[in-house]
Amino acid sequence: MTTRVTAVLSGAGQRGFYNYGPYALQYPEELRFVAVAEPNPARRARFAAAHNIPPERQFASWEDLVGQGRIADTFFNTTQDQTHYHSTLAALAAGYDVLLEKPMANRLAENVALVQAAERSGRLLQVCHVLRYTPFFSTLHQVLASGRLGDIITVEHRENVAFWHMAHSYVRGHWRNVATASPMILAKCCHDLDILFWNLGRKVNRLHSFGSLIHFRPKNAPPGATARCTDGCPAGDQCPFDARRLYLDTGRTGWPVSVISEDLSLEARRHSLATGPFGRCVYFCDNDVVDHQTVNMEFEGGTTAVLFMHGHSHEESRTMRYDGTRATLRGKFTYAGGRIEVHDHLTGRREELVIPPAESGHGGGDFGVVRSFLGAVRGEMPPLTSAREALESHLLAFAAEEARVNGAVVTMSDFRRRAEAGAPVPVDHARRSP
Ligand SMILES: NC(=O)c1ccc[n+]([C@@H]2O[C@H](COP(=O)([O-])OP(=O)(O)OC[C@H]3O[C@@H](n4cnc5c(N)ncnc54)[C@H](O)[C@@H]3O)[C@@H](O)[C@H]2O)c1
Repeated sequence: MTTRVTAVLSGAGQRGFYNYGPYALQYPEELRFVAVAEPNPARRARFAAAHNIPPERQFASWEDLVGQGRIADTFFNTTQDQTHYHSTLAALAAGYDVLLEKPMANRLAENVALVQAAERSGRLLQVCHVLRYTPFFSTLHQVLASGRLGDIITVEHRENVAFWHMAHSYVRGHWRNVATASPMILAKCCHDLDILFWNLGRKVNRLHSFGSLIHFRPKNAPPGATARCTDGCPAGDQCPFDARRLYLDTGRTGWPVSVISEDLSLEARRHSLATGPFGRCVYFCDNDVVDHQTVNMEFEGGTTAVLFMHGHSHEESRTMRYDGTRATLRGKFTYAGGRIEVHDHLTGRREELVIPPAESGHGGGDFGVVRSFLGAVRGEMPPLTSAREALESHLLAFAAEEARVNGAVVTMSDFRRRAEAGAPVPVDHARRSP
């Protein structure tokens, strides 16, 4: 019989409520949330009601929660990126095993310090690189590990962010500005860099990167554009980014519509667009993250890989191509499903692989990472994305940003050494707010 793991949740927003909370509801014999920390009263109440958490176990912040000492086996950290560092240090110090959302932290030194702190504490720190746990990427990984493609010579991996997702998250939303969030290559593509590192099973020797913010700037605003889409903008009918089209004129109220208001009535959403960040014209926001970036990498052994990230796609997808000495693999991953085909050089045959169905969000990765974490906590299996394993993708993202900004080639062995030496020594942050 499986031992049930108890958990506290810090941050009952999108990920906490919609993506990980449901695991406990679907598999109550495996996971139970016994406390919640969330400053937004409506979100706190919503999570507490769903998980039957009594008032004395409902807290307004992670600081108050951690102040109780360890009251469960595990700590699910689904706060925003800028809160990850201090709250995770405090949770580890309190003795929790921690499941931490990606990116681990917004600043390079904090990422390294978190890994070092986890290793010193002897606690498990697992990072939500959900893609590794999807049936799609597991299937792709198995093909590569089987040697069927021969030696991998080159890889092209594209992260095609849909135009509306770009506008929502990286122009109007949480991850729009490097100073308050992080470079987009970290926030969006630490997943993709992690997949490349995992699939190739080797580290990157050198990389360089190009990219910029081309489109979402005031100079590209259509004539007469107003500061908000709700201000009677004359360009609205012809604008793909019109907030009314994205958040009101849709039958859907799931993500990303659910981000703009807890109350999903039309009236509440209208109010949110008239007053909040998501109604702003995409050309007049305080955004500065790129809308396209490439990372060109040379792996140990000589394999080259290019990662394309951009926010102007007609659809949300990741597409990839692996060319090996015996076969070529082409794949397309969407949250609705995927396709992987292998073209064999010797026989000329093309095979489409069978990908098992996904059971949860992010192509099955959301439940997959929770299941893996619970298995690791119970001592049944090592985590696929330990903090040390996850760090490599974060280092690659920061190195890519350095390469992009400086116009330089970055040698990763130097970069890793610098990062490891530059990490701050963690102190007791249990009572500090970020
Ligand atoms: N793994 C993935 O694929 C994936 C996908 C999307 C987002 N994310 C990451 O998940 C994390 C959460 O994202 P989200 O979209 O759910 O954000 P969100 O803003 O919806 O949720 C974060 C919650 O934390 C709460 N919070 C703020 N201060 C707090 C405090 N002191 N104590 C406790 N809670 C506090 C906020 O009120 C909010 O409800 C982010 O780090 C994000 O980058 C990961």
